[in-house]
Amino acid sequence: MKICVLPGDGIGPEIMAEAVRVLKALDLKIEMEEALLGGCAVDATGSPYPDATQKLALAADAVLLGAVGGPQWDNNPREQRPERGLLGIRKQLGLFANLRPAILYPELANASTLKPEVVAGLDILIVRELTGDIYFGQPRGIEVREVDGQKQRFGFNTMHYTESEIRRILRVAFEAARKRSRKVCSVDKMNVLECTQLWRDVATETGKEYPDVELSHMLVDNAAMQLVKNPKQFDVMVTGNMFGDILSDEASMLTGSIGMLPSASLDADNKGLYEPSHGSAPDIAGKGVANPLATILSVAMMLRYTFANEAAAGRVEGAVKKVLGQGFRTGDIFEPGMKKVGTREMGDAVLAAL
Ligand code: IPM
Ligand code: MG
Repeated sequence: MKICVLPGDGIGPEIMAEAVRVLKALDLKIEMEEALLGGCAVDATGSPYPDATQKLALAADAVLLGAVGGPQWDNNPREQRPERGLLGIRKQLGLFANLRPAILYPELANASTLKPEVVAGLDILIVRELTGDIYFGQPRGIEVREVDGQKQRFGFNTMHYTESEIRRILRVAFEAARKRSRKVCSVDKMNVLECTQLWRDVATETGKEYPDVELSHMLVDNAAMQLVKNPKQFDVMVTGNMFGDILSDEASMLTGSIGMLPSASLDADNKGLYEPSHGSAPDIAGKGVANPLATILSVAMMLRYTFANEAAAGRVEGAVKKVLGQGFRTGDIFEPGMKKVGTREMGDAVLAAL
């Protein structure tokens, strides 16, 4: 197994160090090689996704990513922004299927801002399309144009999907639902956007291939509302790139801390990029207080999806559950009475639990 390790920016290197320790402790036949992605890559090479990183990522079986971004690159030209690196690697590796689970660990029931009875036992999987939509659509830009009788700046992006793009992500959602509660909710904005009318039509057609899975449709504004009103009505939610970006952040907060949530971005052959759902948290970078569990849980997803090693994945997830049960908490999930630990100590605890 060849893994390309991209620690990235902000807290990325700290949390990645713990994930790598966990991976090494599993004693699997693994080769790891590190490279630059994001702001650190811009600083070192001028590009957020340098050639050397591209070579390594293309050759690897899986990519493990910390996080990218930070305020010091906010004023860079668009092609030298850290996010460009992330979008570039997703597109180049064809990672169209982004799986973002939102699970509430019983030990963390009080960490959510919602009432415990609303979120207790929450287990949602958001399946987000990741290489299409308005994120990549052409034409795009900011230009000066003559509009409404005056020369003015004009900003534009293009939302588009082909039916094959929609069908392949719907299939991922239906297959995932078959291993869960057999319910898929497809989210769109068909009352306004033609592109998402096509989404709904193709979702309905694809649903016929999966008569054992219940398919429902929801408009994205209502979905945002239902997620906080009654999140447990959902099992698998599937949606496009932009709606999925927004809804997955919302869903993560139902669980109390985004610091607990891993994600997988897969291509058609289960090659994948695995990263925590959270960002680079520049405000706490370098302080050794970040929660490494989302990255460690991303290692578990990698073992499950790319390496089909359910036993090792289960071991890692079991160890995380154990340390929560033992009361270890980083600042983001701390409650009085628990043991407050830093990034390294949390890693130590997971290693001990393994
Ligand atoms: C995410 C992030 C990215 C996205 C940014 C950093 C480009 O918000 O992975 O959800 O919008 O996809
Ligand atoms: Mg996002």
